[in-house]
Amino acid sequence: MAELLDPAAELRVSFLEAVAEFRADREYPVPWFVTDIDPEALTEASAFPGYVARVLGERELSGVRADGFVAQTTLWWVEDAHVLGRLAIRHYLTPKLERLGGHIGYDVRPGARRRGHATAMLAAARPVAAALGVEEALLTCAATNTASRRVIEANGGRFVDTSGDRLRYVVPTRQGMDEVRSGRSS
Ligand SMILES: CC(C)(COP(=O)(O)OP(=O)(O)OC[C@H]1O[C@@H](n2cnc3c(N)ncnc32)[C@H](O)[C@@H]1OP(=O)(O)O)[C@@H](O)C(=O)NCCC(=O)NCCS
Repeated sequence: MAELLDPAAELRVSFLEAVAEFRADREYPVPWFVTDIDPEALTEASAFPGYVARVLGERELSGVRADGFVAQTTLWWVEDAHVLGRLAIRHYLTPKLERLGGHIGYDVRPGARRRGHATAMLAAARPVAAALGVEEALLTCAATNTASRRVIEANGGRFVDTSGDRLRYVVPTRQGMDEVRSGRSS
């Protein structure tokens, strides 16, 4: 069974395989976290622990870069030592995140899609967000991103409004976990 784990250098090979899949994906744009990976971590094994340390460091304000970023908790969705996806919980919102990014972003590697992983990954992240003090998580997705809409709605997402081409939802982090469909239709 897959679970949310802290990024770890031991998962380098699987993580880099996932990155290669994201880059080759023709269905969705390359996710931001892929373009944000330190270039040397992609080619030099010795640089990978430094990348992981940077990502873990972003959980503290001291580890956050200056240009409009907020502290965030990144987690990897892992099954049998295979990295299937990643998710980031932003600890608070800026005006830009209120409009565009929301509290939680997630990506499932192309080879693992349509098996319920994103739905389960967001469900697993909700109590983590609650523990970080996020009572109601704002989630946004492009209006055209049917899969992401379904993921949010399966997690009890309540539609708020439209911001540009994005739909905004609030997802409960403490309540409503029983609404989550774990791979079955309701
Ligand atoms: C969006 C994404 C996270 C979905 O991941 P996933 O693991 O395939 O999602 P799930 O298997 O949990 O599927 C959720 C629902 O979306 C549906 N779905 C999945 N891919 C779909 C697609 N390409 N078109 C239409 N529906 C789709 C599933 O059938 C399922 O529907 P159901 O709830 O009625 O059963 C994944 O496609 C992805 O990483 N895309 C690129 C990054 C991205 O868009 N992230 C979200 C940004 S807001």
